[in-house]
Amino acid sequence: MAMMKGTSLLVPSVQELAKQAITKVPERYVHPNQDPIVASNTTNSLPQKVPVIDLSKLLSDDATELENLDHACRDWGFFQLINHKVNPSIVENMKIGVEQFFNLPIEEKKKKFWQTPNDMQGFGQLFVVSDEQKLEWADMFYINTFPLYSRHPNLIPTIPLPFRDHLETYCLELKKILVKIIGSMEKALKMKTNELLEFFEDPGQGLRMNYYPPCPQPENVIGLNPHSDSGALTILLQVNEVEGLQIRKDGMWIPVKPLSNAFVINIGDMLEILTNGIYRSIEHRATINSKNKRISIATFHRPQMSRHIGPTPTLITAERPALFKRIGVADYLNGFMLRKLHGKSYIDVVKI
Ligand code: OGA
Ligand code: NI
Repeated sequence: MAMMKGTSLLVPSVQELAKQAITKVPERYVHPNQDPIVASNTTNSLPQKVPVIDLSKLLSDDATELENLDHACRDWGFFQLINHKVNPSIVENMKIGVEQFFNLPIEEKKKKFWQTPNDMQGFGQLFVVSDEQKLEWADMFYINTFPLYSRHPNLIPTIPLPFRDHLETYCLELKKILVKIIGSMEKALKMKTNELLEFFEDPGQGLRMNYYPPCPQPENVIGLNPHSDSGALTILLQVNEVEGLQIRKDGMWIPVKPLSNAFVINIGDMLEILTNGIYRSIEHRATINSKNKRISIATFHRPQMSRHIGPTPTLITAERPALFKRIGVADYLNGFMLRKLHGKSYIDVVKI
């Protein structure tokens, strides 16, 4: 990302690797000691389900829905957003475009879009810090979209039309959703108007498109290592209706089942810091299956790089003193990107 020192070692394409008729996963992708990939609640008699929140109700100040939002952000850190009113054709165009983009010939991807040393934007993987490190069973394409100066000079301009235009439209729509959700959170937290929103004026936004190919030994690989998102708010689109995203709750992995016409929203570390720990970023991961590829698009939002964040004053009280130190957004991100993804552990550096 722009102004970010973090880099990631260059890696081969897993999409290409998975095209070969392999029966055994190469060592570099085998994760020996991971939690079983079957989500724990499938055998539980009381299955837990990720909350569903109706944006139209939030925007009409429906008190019950604001309470539901508050509950979802405190207890889950994740929810599915329905009735978001984003034009279905915008989402559909994005789904078609991203699949075609991943299906470009590998030669073209390598030539025009692959990561280069010292820049994490482009196709590849993130958080790869050593040659011994186990890799993920996935390819991703990462780009900064806002602010404009954070864009890579060549990547977006090289994306084929009409996908490039559809992507621009999609990014702008998601920034609108961000503002609506943060505004509703202010109400749910009984904060002053603009107290949280002011951190999201001209926000930073980045897109991570994930392609998880099927794998003959899915229990031995991981699509995306357990992590919490470093930014403030992530809006995720499950592009095809294949399960894989799981979140850790009460020690169990719970699946986020694809819901049509919904976005998955999750709280990142920066929003946990801004809300003084009242809203929580939650560890999540992506698992692989043996039959179907899975595609997702995660859109991250954060305050601008030059800003500093800390617990918002009205959320610091005698009963709830500040839980975090103030830190620069750029410092937080740089520190986060330089490490391996390791559950939800980076936020500890700012804990008081
Ligand atoms: C991410 C992420 C989950 C998924 O990109 O940060 O958590 O389902 N993705 O792809
Ligand atoms: Ni994530």
